[in-house]
Amino acid sequence: MAGTGVFEDLAAGEDTFKFYSEGKWQESASKKTVNVVNPSTQKVQYKVQACTQDEVNAVFASAKVAQKAWAKTPLWKRAELLHKAAAMLKEHKTPIAAALVKEIAKPAKDAVTEVVRSGDLISYCAEEGVRLLGEGKFIMSDSFPGTDRNKLCLASKIPLGTVLCIPPFNYPVNLAVSKIAPALIAGNAVVLKPPTQGAVSGLHMVHCFHLAGFPPGLLSCVTGKGSEIGDFLTTHPSVNCISFTGGDTGISIARKAGMVPMQMELGGKDACIVLEDADLDLVAANIIKGGFSYSGQRCTAIKVVLVLESVADKLVELVNAKVAKLSVGMPEDDAQITPVVTESSANFIEGLVKDAETKGATLCQAYKREGNLIWPVLIDHVKPEMRIAWEEPFGPILPVIRVKTVEEAIHHCNASQFGLQGCIFTQDINKAMFISDAMETGTVQINSAPARGPDHFPFQGIRDSGIGTQGIPNSILLMTKTKSTVINLPSASYTMG
Ligand code: G3H
Repeated sequence: MAGTGVFEDLAAGEDTFKFYSEGKWQESASKKTVNVVNPSTQKVQYKVQACTQDEVNAVFASAKVAQKAWAKTPLWKRAELLHKAAAMLKEHKTPIAAALVKEIAKPAKDAVTEVVRSGDLISYCAEEGVRLLGEGKFIMSDSFPGTDRNKLCLASKIPLGTVLCIPPFNYPVNLAVSKIAPALIAGNAVVLKPPTQGAVSGLHMVHCFHLAGFPPGLLSCVTGKGSEIGDFLTTHPSVNCISFTGGDTGISIARKAGMVPMQMELGGKDACIVLEDADLDLVAANIIKGGFSYSGQRCTAIKVVLVLESVADKLVELVNAKVAKLSVGMPEDDAQITPVVTESSANFIEGLVKDAETKGATLCQAYKREGNLIWPVLIDHVKPEMRIAWEEPFGPILPVIRVKTVEEAIHHCNASQFGLQGCIFTQDINKAMFISDAMETGTVQINSAPARGPDHFPFQGIRDSGIGTQGIPNSILLMTKTKSTVINLPSASYTMG
């Protein structure tokens, strides 16, 4: 059933959901819908509106009007509404998590964690925004050579206007609020385009903002096929900032979008470098968590293990023992490995496994697939000529490359088109710091798997992994501009007598 209880306004019929524009839940004039396929059953689970370009124009027009008033709304009031939205989200975590289970096959407990984490993110953002935006800067002119003390500059942060937020399927709630909350606290309006797989959880999340009492038009959510409204949204003249998380579509968005600030979190091929002195039990536990949680469908998943030859056999043995214990099954049962998001994703993953096998890699577990469900596989003895050495599977398969030297590991890491995160395992902190310095990635974790959180830490990619820095304070600042007001005194020699 679509939209029950407090969410009943969202329903447009059995399993069909409305979109959100001008503070109201609406059906598209297109009379068309887009199917949301359940990855576990491969059957249509939900339907969402196929919005038209006119409807996109309408949300931008109302965003523009609402934003003007919102920018003048006191910061503490903006924060208060965000806290209310956070509370609503947490209160309604169960139906939202249920939608995550159905449309992206997120394991049941992780789905609840995503919603709760999102509530925490919104609240933290409200508080951080009050602190960051509540202060300006006062600059005197005479600190610059040749200048008198007659100009006083007051610099403060002002909003950009309308922020277009495009989150990915793997965190349709959390990576939506990580964009929406900074945008709103900074005084911007938001247009959200959720991923099709994840749209229904996204719509529920938006309703929590509606219930919190945000002004109509300030936050809108349009659904539909990226191929139909994607470019129209990203090149729309009313967009003043784009915050996108996803695959290499982000690169083409960046090329087309023109002169707007952008925050892009794209792919990753996060390397796990294992030195001879590493605590191998710790490494194995982190490889399981980092490589296989949510079936490897995280941009920060460990996507290649680069281990020194002398400890490789032992490490592979330890990891294999843990892979054997991973539960494989349905998200409703909270299995650790669940079906990957689409059939084409499963086919892509299978292609990588077959390529590696054909070229001589060792599959530590027999390859098995039922529908979109792929059993976890550690692929040992991977060589640079195999696709899996470089490509991002976004699935429960993990390559191991045995290296002779640390330099070889660093070289592999830096030769990747991606540079999101990486991790190093060693008990020698000095070595770890030198290796971190040499690794060209946005973040390096020492003795732990890569991860975006905690959500106030800076998060950024190098090369094709993205542009702009995320993390709550950075996102708030990215969604503002500095405004300077300069008070010019008559002259430095002015006397008061
Ligand atoms: O998939 C990309 C996400 O930013 C990863 O976030 O490290 O919290 O799983 P996570």
